[in-house]
Amino acid sequence: MGRAGLQVSELCLGTMTFGADGGTDEGTAHQILDAFVEAGGTFIDTANVYSQGVAEEILGRWLKTRNRDDLIIATKVYGEAAPGEAPRGTGRKHVLAEVEASLRRLQTDFIDLYQAHVFDDATPFEETLSTLDSLVRSGKVRFIGASNYTGWQLQKSIEMSRHYGWEPFVSLQPLYNLLDRGAELELLPLCRNEGVGVIAWSPLAGGWLSGKYTRNLDGPPADSRAGDEDWASRNSERTWRVIETVQAVAAEVDRTPAQVALRWLLQQPAITGPIIGARIPEQLADNLGATGWALEDDQLRQLTGAGDQPVPYPYELQRLPQFVRRPAPE
Ligand SMILES: NC(=O)c1ccc[n+]([C@@H]2O[C@H](COP(=O)([O-])OP(=O)(O)OC[C@H]3O[C@@H](n4cnc5c(N)ncnc54)[C@H](OP(=O)(O)O)[C@@H]3O)[C@@H](O)[C@H]2O)c1
Repeated sequence: MGRAGLQVSELCLGTMTFGADGGTDEGTAHQILDAFVEAGGTFIDTANVYSQGVAEEILGRWLKTRNRDDLIIATKVYGEAAPGEAPRGTGRKHVLAEVEASLRRLQTDFIDLYQAHVFDDATPFEETLSTLDSLVRSGKVRFIGASNYTGWQLQKSIEMSRHYGWEPFVSLQPLYNLLDRGAELELLPLCRNEGVGVIAWSPLAGGWLSGKYTRNLDGPPADSRAGDEDWASRNSERTWRVIETVQAVAAEVDRTPAQVALRWLLQQPAITGPIIGARIPEQLADNLGATGWALEDDQLRQLTGAGDQPVPYPYELQRLPQFVRRPAPE
């Protein structure tokens, strides 16, 4: 994971749908977890808020059947697990209470990677970072990470931990996939520069890159999680161009669209790996097929190019030929 001595499998398994309405029930979730580790997966991501704590409980009961030391368990803190409660952020009081609740639900003595789920603008950096540091020192947590931070928030956190000698964030969990590319502006260059590992959430854009959403439909297919709002926000020429490029490359390499979209992520230089989501075992089996082969450079370029968008100022200005002194890294 980045520069840290934390070894993770190239795919991480996400548990956001575990225990959710219309999601994955406990029996199916345990089948998915079993199949993931049988395929060599060791890295599993959850959060205190997924299904209001039920996802952690489902994972905790399964963990009891496994050798805990073989697995890397990541969870997150920010929201409140109790229904109807407002998000509580990453202040000391909430983090210290929530880490105990997550340990209890996961039925474990330690969390491998404890992540601030979202940046908390109502808590001083020092309070969040020193609290997370104290959890590593106490042994309840082994590494800390951030999720949904902007560039300046992550860079400031890194500098502050360096200054005070606190445990640094070793990972960032951003939204990143062939359709959602905002992380490329600040976050990915920052993570490469600082040696922070990157685990991408929604690597299939919530299923859009799996091939089941097509231009000729009037709305999302019935067996998919996208609602009308999601359809309206994604239904654009750029989306269909990206999806159709994924489908064309998939046909060329004799793989499924989901495998191609995940493979593209695995081959991006800043990326440690995608956090794959699977509602049913068949989707997991498909997504596991993203490993063990490679896209050619030309195919990577086609996929990236299909979703390229104009970049805003000052990124655009800095890319003008008269200001470029060093070519962008491959
Ligand atoms: N840090 C954060 O803020 C944050 C936010 C979101 C997620 N996450 C993490 O990232 C993980 C993955 O996110 P995600 O679930 O949004 O990932 P995703 O891979 O973009 O979407 C997964 C969904 O796509 C569909 N799908 C997956 N594989 C498929 C396949 N092979 N063929 C057809 N459909 C397929 C399924 O939905 P349907 O079958 O219902 O269509 C599945 O629930 C989560 O479990 C969580 O751990 C983190």
